[in-house]
Amino acid sequence: MSAPIRHYLQFSDLSAEDYAYLFERAALIKKKFKAYEKYHPLADRTLAMIFEKASTRTRVSFEAGMYQLGGSVVHLTTGDSQLGRAEPIEDSAKVISRMVDLVMIRTFGQDKIELFAEHSRVPVINGLTNEFHPCQILADIFTFIEHRGSIRGKTVAWVGDGNNMANTWLQAAELLGFKVHVSTPGGYEVDQDVAGIRSSDSYKVFKDPMDACRGADLVTTDVWTSMGYEAENEARKKAFADWCVDTEMMKVAKPDALFMHCLPAHRGEEVQADVIDGPQSVVWDEAENRMHAQKALMEFLLIGRIAS
Ligand code: CP
Ligand code: NVA
Repeated sequence: MSAPIRHYLQFSDLSAEDYAYLFERAALIKKKFKAYEKYHPLADRTLAMIFEKASTRTRVSFEAGMYQLGGSVVHLTTGDSQLGRAEPIEDSAKVISRMVDLVMIRTFGQDKIELFAEHSRVPVINGLTNEFHPCQILADIFTFIEHRGSIRGKTVAWVGDGNNMANTWLQAAELLGFKVHVSTPGGYEVDQDVAGIRSSDSYKVFKDPMDACRGADLVTTDVWTSMGYEAENEARKKAFADWCVDTEMMKVAKPDALFMHCLPAHRGEEVQADVIDGPQSVVWDEAENRMHAQKALMEFLLIGRIAS
């Protein structure tokens, strides 16, 4: 009997030990890339990428990453496939997964990606849902480690919406042993059940974003209005007005605190230009590291651990 398929639908789908391996592997794969070393462990393998929402980083990082590993890519969107014409998800999953080795999906509800995975013959990766964005946090923690070493025992300040990024930070904190200080406007709080965490031990809620940032090792935020919630834009602009990461917030964090943002960013809304374009910001490393971390992830899901 063959081994069960490993999907990556949320951060908690892998163990702390898997992540320790992946962070080391991503560093090695990044080194090979920087040295122009040919590395084709996924030769003849194909990745299907399904986008039901817009993307720049996720598309480029998966597509370039897969080619660099020797594989190829098929790109599908709702507009140019039967996915947008109500073909059942189960049928799409059965068909697509007979022709490719790996599937990456960006969609709306987590239930959609879970249903796809249930009917897929090959591993499925979450490229963002309304609830989670595990590939982004994989890259963010890899970036933190590159700059500051282990994240265990550290404090991450989350300022803004209790959204897919916030939920994924909470899962990561529970699994990898760090703390998240969360500050959101009323009505936009994180929900422990939606985040899929067991207890409230790994996070603390603060009314005032300044308090969340106090003593933090990393300050991070995201757009006020995520994809799919555009109708709420005006109401959100009012509600989030005090949740803009500014130099005052960075000043109360640790002196060597980093700033991260998954991008795309809106300067003057969730973050001041002085912060995102300032010396503590590592947003460009964060974006680049999507590719290195996901290359390690795709290799892991298709081949397993490689002894170095
Ligand atoms: N951070 C991120 O996922 O960016 P894209 O929406 O451009 O893929
Ligand atoms: N929370 C944002 C992240 C974009 C990468 C969204 O879902 O639109």
